[in-house]
Amino acid sequence: MQEKKDQLRQEWIELSSAWIKESREGRTPHRNGLLDQPMLEACGNVEGLQVLDCGCGEGRFCRILAQRGASYVLGLDLCEPMIKAARELQASCNEYRVADVQNLSFLLDQRFDLVVSYLNQCDLPDFMANTREVYRILRNRGRFVVANLHPMRSAGGGWYKTENGKKEHVILDRYFEGNERYWRMMGVNFTNFHRTLSTYIHGFIEVGFKIEGIIEPTISKDQLALYPELEDGLRVPNFIIYSLSKP
Ligand SMILES: C[S@@+](CC[C@H](N)C(=O)[O-])C[C@H]1O[C@@H](n2cnc3c(N)ncnc32)[C@H](O)[C@@H]1O
Repeated sequence: MQEKKDQLRQEWIELSSAWIKESREGRTPHRNGLLDQPMLEACGNVEGLQVLDCGCGEGRFCRILAQRGASYVLGLDLCEPMIKAARELQASCNEYRVADVQNLSFLLDQRFDLVVSYLNQCDLPDFMANTREVYRILRNRGRFVVANLHPMRSAGGGWYKTENGKKEHVILDRYFEGNERYWRMMGVNFTNFHRTLSTYIHGFIEVGFKIEGIIEPTISKDQLALYPELEDGLRVPNFIIYSLSKP
């Protein structure tokens, strides 16, 4: 177990310099062009809120939430170089800490109004441990907004292309085999976890969350003009956002 955790953390350490560079240069079309807007709409008005960001990376979304008036934003990440980079741009209402979001025992019950998880649950061997912990540290009627890889894409398969490279359709395969998947991202071999849609939904309900909404972000004409590389987003879902509340 510890060995697996160390391996996953090591992969993120290897990815971190390229990830931080891309983020700082604003070259993150999937997040800037596709996910940010629906994530912010799902978060709603954050003014005055106490917010936790699980798997905050180099702090991009924490900074956005702080700029939108959150009174306190705590970002947690397992990867030390990400937290070091986040601290470099830390606002007075931000705090960052190296931590595994599957164990939040250092945080008090009902401490937060809003928790966000922006492309993090797909990286966790035990998303239920994170979900249970988030439920515990949220106040009653607090909200949990989770952006994740869409289960139809995390299953694996990629694009079926013609000989001249035209994208014909996406292949969906091994959907019911929930388990590790191996990818190559930014030149680094990388592991994440595929689970079916019902695994996530049943998990959230089992822990006690109410599902307020499910969003499958697609690309608007305006965004497409800015980010033409996101054209695939008109054809297939890449991501999913679960908007949850604690009754
Ligand atoms: C896909 S990145 C997303 C980063 C950030 N949320 C963003 O959108 O820029 C996933 C992040 O989750 C972190 N992570 C992976 N496993 C984690 C764990 N068990 N606990 C905390 N953070 C973790 C990684 O280090 C990485 O920074």
